Amino acid sequence: MERTLAILKPCAIERSLIGEVVKRIEQKGLIICGMKMMQLDEKILRAHYSHLVDKPFFPLLVESMMTSPVIVMVLKGIDAVEVFRNMTGSTNGRKAAPGTIRGDFSVSGQQNIVHASDSVENAEAEINRFFRPEEIFDYIPSGLYDLYAKDEI
Ligand code: TYD
Repeated sequence: MERTLAILKPCAIERSLIGEVVKRIEQKGLIICGMKMMQLDEKILRAHYSHLVDKPFFPLLVESMMTSPVIVMVLKGIDAVEVFRNMTGSTNGRKAAPGTIRGDFSVSGQQNIVHASDSVENAEAEINRFFRPEEIFDYIPSGLYDLYAKDEI
């Protein structure tokens, strides 16, 4: 099954939205197979947002991502990257569709609650950046065949 990385950003922690977001992930049927709180620093953010280092908003982005700890999660499922990107919604919370996490909980282009990997390749690189192998648990939920048909797996 595919894996993706989710980060509950400092704005989500500060606004007590951890439960809301985790609830949506669980209700959808994505399997949480790694989860921890950590304080990000500039080094890891420069690597994580390497595609944005030259943007004018980069210093503010780094500052906002360090204002409190974050929660990082590894999510697993068929097409997990696409499924969680769709749940997350477009980058700017003011434009994100209602029903998405950003559309329902954010009015900002920066304070947008959650990070979601945007490709399978990036997801694996991001998971390796934020997690040690022993922090990821490759268990199979007992209700797997209530999530998926037998010929989907
Ligand atoms: P990006 O990778 O473009 O979007 P996404 O998170 O939807 O994959 O941008 C990463 C983060 O950078 C985004 O979640 C919030 C921040 N950001 C800004 O602060 N201002 C901006 O104009 C953009 C495009 C992003």
